[in-house]
Amino acid sequence: MKISVINRDGTKHILEADNNSTLMEVIRDEGLDIEAACGGCCACATCHVYIKENWLDKLNHKGDEEESMLDQAFDVKNNSRLSCQIELSEELDGLELELAPE
Ligand code: FES
Repeated sequence: MKISVINRDGTKHILEADNNSTLMEVIRDEGLDIEAACGGCCACATCHVYIKENWLDKLNHKGDEEESMLDQAFDVKNNSRLSCQIELSEELDGLELELAPE
């Protein structure tokens, strides 16, 4: 499956992903500008991304921990998610998103 990511510098990257990963892992392993300081424990919000609106309904729902981390994050929008909390699956082939500012 492929996902399309706009990096912080505005460049678009098409990443090859496998469906046993989280979205954060795929972005991080590609070397894009995501810090993911807590390693995916939902404790830092440095994996914040903006999901293209038409994909929001297809994602697993936000858990309480993700909601509370996003409450403390900067530049949060309606389409904000923490990428470490998104499990990839075949239905997400073609997913489009943008990295949130630091
Ligand atoms: S990597 Fe820390 S909250 Fe996602």
